[in-house]
Amino acid sequence: MSTKLIAPSLLASDFANLQRDIEMVNKSDADWFHIDIMDGVFVPNISFGMPVLEAMAKHTKKPLDVHLMIVDPDRYIKTFANLGSEILTVHYEACTHLHRTIQAIKSEGMKAGVALNPHTNVNLLEDVINDLDLVLIMSVNPGFGGQSFIENTYSKVKQLKDMIVRKGASTIIEIDGGVTNANAKALVDAGADVLVAGSFVFKSTSQLKTIEDLKSIVNP
Ligand code: DX5
Ligand code: ZN
Repeated sequence: MSTKLIAPSLLASDFANLQRDIEMVNKSDADWFHIDIMDGVFVPNISFGMPVLEAMAKHTKKPLDVHLMIVDPDRYIKTFANLGSEILTVHYEACTHLHRTIQAIKSEGMKAGVALNPHTNVNLLEDVINDLDLVLIMSVNPGFGGQSFIENTYSKVKQLKDMIVRKGASTIIEIDGGVTNANAKALVDAGADVLVAGSFVFKSTSQLKTIEDLKSIVNP
């Protein structure tokens, strides 16, 4: 069984102390940095953009897992590759020519991910699953940290895992939104490989310990 990964979301970090929070993740048991880019159009919020990511990337020592919550993401694929993104995830709902977008991400040397909103059925990925490195299942409506986990996520993860096995794909499953130590084990049991955690990590009193605990819950 492969190691399950934890990706703290910097959206929940203290933006006035970004370097401090990045160093914390660097020395923690976490595996990736989850970076949420929002445009105020695809989602009703704006997070941060390229200049901030460029500043972050000077300090991050783990892969950058970039989650684009923006319309027409094709415009910026090259930019995010140049900024050092290892994984670039676009939303299914934001792409008219998803197959082309996936190929464009890969041709820039990044791993390609597709995110699904809570209302989007996993079966819609049937025809591209073998091209995908990662599927991100949103377990809250995208746009904000600190929301409650949507329980229907478990059945979506199971359905997606079945599809991946049936199609002989090597796609990994990431869960994003409302992840805590209370649902982490069940998510992994359902088939998840990577858990994003924002508020649960950054609002905790001992962030390193919270990450360590999550990591051991998902890798018993
Ligand atoms: C939400 C973002 C998430 C967010 C998760 O739109 O995609 O990555 O940071 O935050 P929590 O873990 O607080 O739900
Ligand atoms: Zn995210």
